[in-house]
This record gives sequence, structure tokens and C-alpha cells, in this order.
Amino acid sequence: MGEHEASGPLWSGRLEGGLHPDVLALSQSLDVDQRLLPYDIAASKAHARMLGRQGIIPAEDVVAIVQALDSVVVDAEATDEDVHSLIERQLVAQLGETGRRVHAGRSRNDQVATAFRLWCRAHAFALIQGTADLQAILVKRAHVDGAAVLPAFTHLQRAQPVPLAHHLAAHVWSLQRDVGRFQAALDAADVSPLGAGALAGSSLPLDPVGVAADLGMASSFTNSLDAVSDRDFAVDLLYACTLCLVHCSRMGEELVLWTSQEFGWAALADDVATGSSMMPQKKNPDVAELARGRAGTAIGRLTGLLATLKGLPLTYNRDLQEDKKGVFEQVDATLGVLRLLSLAYQGMTVEAAKMRAAAADGTTVATDVAEGLVRGGVPFRDAHTEVASRIAAGERFDSPTPEEAIAARTGPGMPGVVADQLAELDRLIATTRALTAPSL
Ligand code: ARG
Repeated sequence: MGEHEASGPLWSGRLEGGLHPDVLALSQSLDVDQRLLPYDIAASKAHARMLGRQGIIPAEDVVAIVQALDSVVVDAEATDEDVHSLIERQLVAQLGETGRRVHAGRSRNDQVATAFRLWCRAHAFALIQGTADLQAILVKRAHVDGAAVLPAFTHLQRAQPVPLAHHLAAHVWSLQRDVGRFQAALDAADVSPLGAGALAGSSLPLDPVGVAADLGMASSFTNSLDAVSDRDFAVDLLYACTLCLVHCSRMGEELVLWTSQEFGWAALADDVATGSSMMPQKKNPDVAELARGRAGTAIGRLTGLLATLKGLPLTYNRDLQEDKKGVFEQVDATLGVLRLLSLAYQGMTVEAAKMRAAAADGTTVATDVAEGLVRGGVPFRDAHTEVASRIAAGERFDSPTPEEAIAARTGPGMPGVVADQLAELDRLIATTRALTAPSL
């Protein structure tokens, strides 16, 4: 080996020879964790700058290391154990002895936790914005088509009339809670573990608080053992994605129903619908079904990470390497589904007449008829019995109309005052849109 080449794995020295190729194949994580590259490079730069500030390495070495880090790429011949090994190998190949200085006071344990946190922070922000995009499209539909009246369901049976705006707004509120959960996951990730070393820090005069500030992170760790073993931030992000996907799944299911011939309440734009390879007449809502399907896999990933964590003794254990794949896939799936639904709702045609016909079947205002009797002094239970038996006898009510029934519901959060809700949602979405992205 030339003097500028790394001499085997980062941990060589204690162990003789290299890894058995089968062990390397099973244990390597480069194919997954190469997505951490820009984040690990940023953290490595911050670490090197700190080593320079603290007089642990010469200032000119800091300049060389920071510059060399900019040219690190996942090269075609990479067979490294992980992205951290790849970065150090290339630094040493470029800089020789200087490259070998960067790992002072650092372990892959605090390194991977830092890079993964930075990845989660950036992607939590992307999820917040992706959620806001879908919310904005739903609210826009509510402004445009919201006056259409449909029967809302319980038990999937016609229950009471509501304006479409109220129905769409219900989905937007569930997404608003997702925004809050993504923000909480972002905050959980926004703590720098760098300086915790392998688990108990370092005897070198490190400056973890300075590193956190350099990375634009909200704070630095408070316990070195916790810093390298904590994956709560990953679970938080997985959970936030999972629940968001569960919400998207419910919207998908609704689109499947609404676009069916049996309902006929909506039609998807052609560019989001699919056909059948055999049945020429088909126009299928695959996008909505995929939104529904992705949630199932998502629940599995969340369960998987929790199961990985549950038996781990402090601190770092290699099991933790399993944490990234599921999170990466979950975030990809969530961003993808948010976008898919945004497109589906954007191009959707609302069949207002069909919705209204269902709402105006003469039964959905039965509660209102009973409440009319209550206003005349009849006890509600008696009014309920009377209206129920009239319905059973075949009577249908044309008064109040669905529109009148809606207009009579004017308490906070009720369908008769949906304009207030839309204004509030517009305001909340604008607030989300105005959030500033993390520095990295
Ligand atoms: N690839 C490893 C992971 O993702 C990096 C940390 C390795 N640390 C160790 N002590 N082997 O967890």
C-alpha cells in the first residue's frame, strides 16, 4: 500500500487481516448510508474546524481537510464498510497524514448519529412543506367546489348533510396535526451528538457546543452515553410519517369510493388514472390505492425500528445500523404519497349534482326534523321515535333542505360556518410556508 492509502478498515490494528468477504457483504451499510454523505461531510468539516480552533490539529490541516471533503464522492470502486469509512479513506488518499488527523476525538458512533440527525432534520422540513402543499390544494378545492353538498357518513351510511368544504377541511386538520408532528421530529433531531465520541467523550479539549453551533443545530448533547444510543428522533420521524400516511390512506380510500361508478361523486384526471391491460373500459384509481397501500408497509417499518431498539443495552450496538433503511424508505414513501394525493386532488372533477342528490334523499335531515319538534317542546327521545317511525313507514322529508340544515349549524367548528375554518386554515398554511429551512 502506498503511503497515501488507508490500510484496511477504520478499526484495523486490533484485528489481523481483513474481513471475510461474506461478513463484509452482510455488515456493510454503504449501499444505504451513502445518502448521509452530504450531512457527514458537513459534520466532518465542523469537527475539523473545531479541532483547529481548539489547537488539536494545525490550522493549515483544517483548510486542507475542509477542501478535500468537498471532493469526496461515492466512487465506483467503493467497497467500504460504510459512508464514514469511505470519507476517511478518500481523505487519507488525498491528504496522507493530514487526512489521518480528522478522526481525533470522534467515533463513528457519534458521527453516524450526527449525520443521521442532520438528514432527519432536513427531511422533516421537506415533509412539512410537502404536507403544506397537499393542504393548500385541499383548501383551494374547498374554496372552489366547497359549496357542493354531500351526505357525510357514519358507518359508511348516509348521516347528515355537510358542505364539501367542511369535509375537505377535516382532512386538512388531520394534516395540520402531521405538520406539528413533523416539526416535533425536526426538533428532536436538532441536537448534536458530536463530541460524545464512542460513548464517553474524549480527553482531548473538544468543544461540542461550538460544533453544534457550527452545524446550526439547536443544542449539543447532555449525556454522552445517551447521545450515541438515542434513536428517539428516528422513531419520532417514522411515527410522524406513519400517521401522516394513515391519514393519506384514509383520503385514498375515500377517493376510491367517490370515483367508483356506485358513488360517482368525483372523477380523477386522466393523467393520474390508470387503465386495464385487458378491460378496455377501465379507469382505475391506482394512485389512491397506492396511497392506501403504502400506509400498510409504513406501519411495519415503525414496528420494526421499535423492535430493533427494545432490547439494546447502552450504548451503541451494531443493531442500530438497521435504523436508517426504514427511515429513508418511510420518508420517500411519505413525500411520494403527499405528492400523489396533491396531483389527484388538483385534477379531480367534483360531481356536485350527484353528491347533492345523495344528500337530498329525504332522510339525511331526519335529525333536523326531530330537532324541529324539540324546538316545539317535544322531548328529544319522543321526537326521535316519531321521526324514525315516519321514515320506516316510507316518509321522506323535503324540509329542511340540506342547505337549510347546514346553515342552521353555526357553532364553532360546525359546517354552517365553514368559511371561518377555511380562513384559519389559509392562515396556518401560510405560517408553515414561511418557516425557514434548516441550514443544511
Ligand atoms: N455503519 C454504522 C451504523 O450505521 C456506523 C457506526 C459503526 N460503529 C461501530 N462501532 N461499528 O451504525
